[in-house]
Amino acid sequence: MAMNMAATHAVNRKLFDPIFEANAACKAAIAKFGAEKVTNATIGTVLDEDGKLEVLPTVEKVFREMAMADFMSYAPISGRADFIEGVRCQILGDKDFEGYFGAVATSGGTGAIHHAVANYAERGEKVLTSDWFWGTYNVICNETGKKLETFKLFDDDYKFFNFENFTAKVEEILAVQKSLLIIINSPAHNPTGYSLSNSEWEKVLEILNSCAKGGKKINLLVDIAYIDFAGDKETAWGFIEKFKNLPKNLLVLISLSMSKSYTLYGQRCGALAAISSSAEIIEEFNDTNKYSSRAVWSNINHGAQILFTRINNDSILSKNLTADQKFLREHVNRRAEVFVNEAASCGLKIVPYKGGFFIAVPAENPAAVCKKLQEDLIFAVPLKLGIRVAACSTPLKKISGVAEKIKSAMDSLK
Ligand SMILES: Cc1ncc(COP(=O)(O)O)c(C=O)c1O
Repeated sequence: MAMNMAATHAVNRKLFDPIFEANAACKAAIAKFGAEKVTNATIGTVLDEDGKLEVLPTVEKVFREMAMADFMSYAPISGRADFIEGVRCQILGDKDFEGYFGAVATSGGTGAIHHAVANYAERGEKVLTSDWFWGTYNVICNETGKKLETFKLFDDDYKFFNFENFTAKVEEILAVQKSLLIIINSPAHNPTGYSLSNSEWEKVLEILNSCAKGGKKINLLVDIAYIDFAGDKETAWGFIEKFKNLPKNLLVLISLSMSKSYTLYGQRCGALAAISSSAEIIEEFNDTNKYSSRAVWSNINHGAQILFTRINNDSILSKNLTADQKFLREHVNRRAEVFVNEAASCGLKIVPYKGGFFIAVPAENPAAVCKKLQEDLIFAVPLKLGIRVAACSTPLKKISGVAEKIKSAMDSLK
């Protein structure tokens, strides 16, 4: 019998990542047939038309001008005060805000989600997210002793948010749990590119307000990792205004990432923010999450926090950053547009794409379709409910034709 040295709760943990698996198959094909012939639609970073990592010029400029001590020194455990203030400005803007706000620096968006799951869901209990979801949510839940449960993101026509199923799931879980953490990734959801409209947000809040009337605790985590790929500031951030006049037992958490918005993927910086109508709940948020930060990573990349502050406190640099982000967003959107239009022309049903890195195609047997696609040297990621195509990394010349190839791969498997 195999022996385990790991503690019981850690035994048999193996990270299965379909993205890395598809990527490995793609690398093997490149080695055999040459990069020109292969379409790699698996990578989750923005690559230019030649396959090189895109770095925002303003970020690179500020990064290169920074002093060695900026990177090498420790940062405060909760994050630099000016970084936290910058995060507050980014989320709440300069309009009047009724309510209380708190934030802690985290190891990217992943760290923020970790803290939210670790501190706002009871051990052994359920956390709720949509059925199309970023697989890491499940890993974080398992790691912290929680169970991930899902609601149907879309109605049967794949057009709108499925309020009926969302409400049913929230009510079902709250019938047995005293509290519930719900994760919604919007705008520019991974893997579908869906964004809830402002009126959909209003309705979600209506439902949660109504459920909160029973006195149970509801924590809503909004994962905004791709927000700067969803549209300009006014459009993409507008829904935040809806998070006001919250009952005390409805806490809104927001996970923010510098990975996509600043192309700082490997520098590991982000934040978990909180909005509440109660000063006491925010004080608890700050204390609890500082405690977790000390235990998990101690403190966060100091250089990335300084870079964030330097850009956002300088009107010219922040204007330049906004222009850089717009350029990158439009670049990705052009590729997505090609795919979406070609899907419509060839009759391939896709999930509504509103923006962001990925487009999703619902499929009965995603793994078999992806395997079939590989015969055409096209590599995409098979998920549970469909196929993920990365518009962020697939050059324009290669994304053209992919929709049709997916359609014929599906047809051939019928
Ligand atoms: C949905 C979603 N949320 C959060 C993240 C967090 O990214 P990071 O930890 O690099 O900030 C990602 C990254 O792929 C993501 O896809």
